[in-house]
Amino acid sequence: MSVAKKEYKRVTVHSLMEMKQDGEKISMLTAYDYTMAKIVDGAGIDVILVGDSASNVMAGHETTLPITLDQMIYHASSVIRAIDRALVVVDLPFGSYQSDPKEALRSAIRIMKESGGHAVKLEGGKEIKESIKRILNAGIPVMGHLGLTPQSIYKFGTYTVRAREEAEAEKLMSDAKFLEKAGCFAIVLEKIPAELAKKVAASVAIPVIGIGAGSGVDGQVLVLHDLLGMTHEFNPRFLRRYMNLYDDMTKAITNYVDDVKSADFPNSEEQY
Ligand code: KIV
Repeated sequence: MSVAKKEYKRVTVHSLMEMKQDGEKISMLTAYDYTMAKIVDGAGIDVILVGDSASNVMAGHETTLPITLDQMIYHASSVIRAIDRALVVVDLPFGSYQSDPKEALRSAIRIMKESGGHAVKLEGGKEIKESIKRILNAGIPVMGHLGLTPQSIYKFGTYTVRAREEAEAEKLMSDAKFLEKAGCFAIVLEKIPAELAKKVAASVAIPVIGIGAGSGVDGQVLVLHDLLGMTHEFNPRFLRRYMNLYDDMTKAITNYVDDVKSADFPNSEEQY
């Protein structure tokens, strides 16, 4: 078991590299708003990802594609106002970096300037190399994301495990090495075989953070609302639920409705 080896007052991209070198696992969770981010940061998380999963979790879209750059900036600035310690990474949304490197840089700059985020995350490997290089050249830290990349869901067709076949596994390994060489500070690997993820983590010096990628990587990330059991219809094998907040909240709200209907709330001590 790996526990915290060193106190970090503020987590930076360099702290993450140090954690990998020290064999300390990196903890990462999503957050999209001030109140949740305050709790997550206070609980000692290393990295908060303002993920484009906000498109699903916060806005109810079926995919991550519809969320806009303005909406990501809104979520990220709410998170940033809550943070004392965690490194905050913000997803560049679909359409804000794929068409040309100059637009990718403009999008990344808007995120850094308007939200105060500390780094950006992009999905893809060599196919977006010019965008990655341009953003890095501007001094903006970049986290890569390989494997199941939800912005490409219509190309994949399903959310099943990626890189089971040798050709895709080889491409993933080569993309991971490319991201490291280009200067990315970390890579997220989503939903790939654990053996492959372990090999990737051992082949690059930068931290590899997994979701559905097994235990042989340098850290783990989950969507906060999944961990809390608020999204009870989402049941992938990799998800460990630490609460069943969907049922607890439903019970609390049902009780409130009953109390209002029966005029039990407010009582004499709950009024002026
Ligand atoms: O948007 C997101 O929440 C993510 C994680 C699943 C890694 O990219």
